[in-house]
Amino acid sequence: MKITAVLGSPRKKGNSETLAEAFLEEAERLGAKVERFRLSALTYQGCTACQACKTTSEQCVLKDDLSPVLDALIEADAFLLATPVYFLDMPSQVKALIDRWFSFLKPGHLARSDASRLPAGKQMVLVVSQGAPESYFVDFVIRYDFIFKLLGFQPMHLIRGARLSDDPNAAAKRDDLLDKARTTARKVLAGEPSDADIPPYALRGGVRV
Ligand SMILES: Cc1cc2nc3c(=O)[nH]c(=O)nc-3n(C[C@H](O)[C@H](O)[C@H](O)COP(=O)(O)O)c2cc1C
Repeated sequence: MKITAVLGSPRKKGNSETLAEAFLEEAERLGAKVERFRLSALTYQGCTACQACKTTSEQCVLKDDLSPVLDALIEADAFLLATPVYFLDMPSQVKALIDRWFSFLKPGHLARSDASRLPAGKQMVLVVSQGAPESYFVDFVIRYDFIFKLLGFQPMHLIRGARLSDDPNAAAKRDDLLDKARTTARKVLAGEPSDADIPPYALRGGVRV
């Protein structure tokens, strides 16, 4: 199994990365080939709405350090995205990557059932770290779950670390979360479906996926 992993925190070896590594090291132990990208080491921009990917090209025409990340995602069997919560959402550095995924959507994507240019059925693992308790920012997961499903991923596996303070070593002291990450890796490698219970995101107008 090929896994593309994006470590999204601007903070190297912080909490989201610790949880991601617990997953990735277990996956590698079981034979997965992992390609890691640490966004903080890359230089790139977000989507510029040039619309080239909807008119003249089937790919993003911006060429920068995100280009190999997008290419690796096309090839991957599974994709892991690790991100902290910053002001109720992803940090802008991670959001810029998500915005570039616009190039994975076909023209008129919201009106079609085959919206994605990505091969369907890739596994998706979202790793989230946040300072607040678990009940906060559930909407964050629900909103991005909508995007991942639109792009054709299988229902996401979720490794969510709450009450992880500003201490970058907080996750390393949480055996429950490290166990969850390793257990999730075994499930993904075995092709088991996610047990994350994520309610559907309701768009205004009643469109649901
Ligand atoms: C700019 C900034 C904004 C943050 N905003 C939130 C927030 O809205 N909610 C929250 O629970 N934690 C917030 N945090 C705390 C981080 O999510 C938390 O420390 C997390 O464990 C960091 O993960 P990392 O070590 O992988 O970067 C924020 C931290 C920073 C630096």
